[in-house]
Amino acid sequence: MSVMDKFTSQYVIPVIRETDEEKLYSLAKSLAEGGLNVLEVTLMNDSAFKVIKRLSTDKDLIIGAGTVLNKEMAQKAQDAGAKFLVSPGLNEEAVTFARESEIPFIPGVMSPTEIMKAMNLKCDVIKIFPVNTLGGISYLKNLKGPFPELKVMASGGIGLDDIRDYFDIGTFCLGAGSQLTPKDAIKNEDWKMIRELAKEYIFEVNRLRR
Ligand code: 3PG
Repeated sequence: MSVMDKFTSQYVIPVIRETDEEKLYSLAKSLAEGGLNVLEVTLMNDSAFKVIKRLSTDKDLIIGAGTVLNKEMAQKAQDAGAKFLVSPGLNEEAVTFARESEIPFIPGVMSPTEIMKAMNLKCDVIKIFPVNTLGGISYLKNLKGPFPELKVMASGGIGLDDIRDYFDIGTFCLGAGSQLTPKDAIKNEDWKMIRELAKEYIFEVNRLRR
């Protein structure tokens, strides 16, 4: 199964943001224990590279890097073992590096012009970010006119109750950050809560597929 097949199969991809290495590691492990095996670890500081390295030895996990802002970060993430790269924006050098290194890269875009730019750079999947601020479902529906085949990872403000609407309009996959991994739960190291939330998200996706 390709990495992108695993994205479609899991559908909701956790976007993890934490600067403390041990907390970041436990957070990722808890999400995986809850069943979310495809994880985007955002590159907030050096802890992220260390955690990607530690987790990528686990064959059951697909660990990628998020917030990849340039080619250097892309290279460092791949060296640490990242299996995919995600960015909030579109950096041509980073996209070209990823293509040459045969690692999937999902750039973040907002406008039709940026979408066209990403398509010209042969990006198969693009991230619409921050989708909630851009108009959510309504914006994605409007994009379907000019870009009917566009594969969208929608991210920004997505929680459990939003999955259904995005799923129904055929969104390729979703990024879930702060609502799936609440700040307080991380602060209090409430890993049980994180595991339970992961299970709820999976339950919702499975329910929609039935
Ligand atoms: C991202 O980088 O995709 C976002 O940080 C995720 O947004 P959220 O925290 O609002 O879910």
